[in-house]
Amino acid sequence: MKDIFDVIIVGAGAAGLMCAITAGKLGKSVLLLERNKNPGAKILISGGGRCNFTNERVTADAYISDNPHFVKSALARYTHLDFLDFMTRNQLTWHEKTLGQLFCDQGAKAILNALLTECQASGVDVRTSVDISEVSRNDGGFLVKSESNSFGAKSLVVASGGLSIPKMGATDFGYKLARQFGLKVVEPRPALVPLTFAPGVVDEMKQLAGVSAPSVISLSSTGAGQGKTVKAPDFRENLLFTHRGLSGPAVLQISSYWQPGGEVLINLMPDQAGLLNWLKQCRDTKPAAHLKTLLAAVLPARLSEYVTKGFDRPVGEQSNANLEKLSERIACWRLTPTGTEGFKKAEVTSGGVSTAAISSKTMEAKDQPGLYFIGECVDVTGWLGGYNFQWAWASGYVAGQSA
Ligand code: FDA
Repeated sequence: MKDIFDVIIVGAGAAGLMCAITAGKLGKSVLLLERNKNPGAKILISGGGRCNFTNERVTADAYISDNPHFVKSALARYTHLDFLDFMTRNQLTWHEKTLGQLFCDQGAKAILNALLTECQASGVDVRTSVDISEVSRNDGGFLVKSESNSFGAKSLVVASGGLSIPKMGATDFGYKLARQFGLKVVEPRPALVPLTFAPGVVDEMKQLAGVSAPSVISLSSTGAGQGKTVKAPDFRENLLFTHRGLSGPAVLQISSYWQPGGEVLINLMPDQAGLLNWLKQCRDTKPAAHLKTLLAAVLPARLSEYVTKGFDRPVGEQSNANLEKLSERIACWRLTPTGTEGFKKAEVTSGGVSTAAISSKTMEAKDQPGLYFIGECVDVTGWLGGYNFQWAWASGYVAGQSA
């Protein structure tokens, strides 16, 4: 005996839950299937447990995709203000932390509970510990099989996420299914992920593990990976040294644009315009001071020690060429990563189901009526800062309206 629904959604993450609520509210019978024991695992760990659920500055520029215009329609139909309405009607409050990033005062669990409450109110049938292994076309709709059950529906929405954090239930289900139905998949890659470096460089960085500093980070060359080359913006955010390389918001942001062979450019003193002039002034006014000490006034002490290695004489004894070399090292630090920490540590997956195969208005596959792809499994990757959840809500909403 198989259960029949109007809509089956595979994956109860942010996108799947929003899609289920939207379709349920329209009176459709909705089955939401999740392979984990509980829905919304990534919502719970997001934003350090506070869930950076959206961003006040959402624009298409904050998303990476082979088609940079693809996100516009869904983001316009479901904006961050729509999610704030959801928060308000569920008695949830929020605050901006930085750069338009909105966090939930009551924590991530409260957002998940609100989503589940709205699912229930909309009559959505949520079933967990159901791992979908097979999908086929059936009577103009879809037949979906797990190990012990079969389900049928007119519409199938794939909200199974990307490959990041496999231990939280990430699977390649969405990509496999897309290929099964003839849709192209843009090579999935780890994104918003720490960068790694050659052993010699890491050994040096280890001394700085735990040091965080404001920075401006950019790419001086993207690299020649398999992904499409997209011009990276400059990111002005904190950089964090770790035992394995570089992390922190600035590095996570640039990692989404980096491809093997690419070179990263870091300004460790973005607030110190005219660094060279300042060093020259110090040479005149405090000639006996050591560079390490002077720079410790504007950089974390360990970082100041690191960047001034080889500049041991007092500033009064430093030539113009030396001061130029030092300011170049600080303001234009060039590094070539050897890789990333991979899907195990990536907050998101870039690449995914090709946007060329999907309607940007509904998320329905152009050549496969009734088949939808939403959220992270689509070739859309947002910046760090609530952009990825906003994509999940928006793509889930438009698919829920149409499915
Ligand atoms: P998501 O991965 O959330 O959900 C997919 C679901 O499908 C999973 O529950 C999975 O188990 C299920 N599934 C997979 N295969 C299946 C199968 N075969 N059968 C049944 N179910 C299956 N973003 C942001 O905007 N703000 C933030 O603060 C953070 N913070 C953050 C922290 C950390 C540590 C990570 C790893 C990620 C973030 N993110 C984030 C990113 C954000 O979590 C991500 O973009 C969304 O969760 C994507 O939502 P989806 O619903 O598309 O996938």
